[in-house]
Amino acid sequence: MSEAAAILFGEEEIRRRVRELGEAITRDYADHPPVLITMLKGGVVFLADLIRCIDLPLRVDFMSISSYGRGSEATGGVVRILKDLDHDIGNDHVLIVEDIVDTGLTLSYLMTALQARNPASLHICALLDKSARRITPLHIRYRGFECPDQFVVGYGLDHQERYRNLPFILGVQDPATASAAVDAYLAGMMMQSGTGPST
Ligand code: IMP
Ligand code: MG
Repeated sequence: MSEAAAILFGEEEIRRRVRELGEAITRDYADHPPVLITMLKGGVVFLADLIRCIDLPLRVDFMSISSYGRGSEATGGVVRILKDLDHDIGNDHVLIVEDIVDTGLTLSYLMTALQARNPASLHICALLDKSARRITPLHIRYRGFECPDQFVVGYGLDHQERYRNLPFILGVQDPATASAAVDAYLAGMMMQSGTGPST
């Protein structure tokens, strides 16, 4: 990729893949409908689309967590729960729905915390897998796409709380200049089409 920002996964490609994941989950959980758990806020766009592709009487629940210090690598994945689940998950079939798994530190910490509540099963569904950066091995049962080792925004993923509403996923070359690169890319898109998302 030579541009400072470029589309990695387009709208139609995401829609197709989300539908496939939903079909696989519908098959696998037919006998035991799942509870889908998402960490606010990044995963909500993926969750919202995914549940509409799952034909089961499922439930959803949310958690909000924050890393101590500057991100998961600085803290070894130790997180603080800002908002816990609304319901007990004992004996439930739990599927964690994540936007992206990067180092895996946050998620492995959470898996341990949730496992302690004795769910009947506990699995991961992640739209993006940045496997080159993995520090803690994790089994991702449902994976949307392998993600290159780049900073990404859009479809729920943010940079300083912006760009979550983009319907596609952009990769940026340099995270330090992400906003400038993404804004320039979006301005270029609008010039071409005469319209575009406003973020
Ligand atoms: P980790 O797997 O513990 O390193 O952290 C994963 C979390 O970091 C994800 O749930 C995202 O919220 C965030 N994250 C990781 N990579 C990116 C990225 O490229 N763009 C936006 N957020 C990211
Ligand atoms: Mg997240």
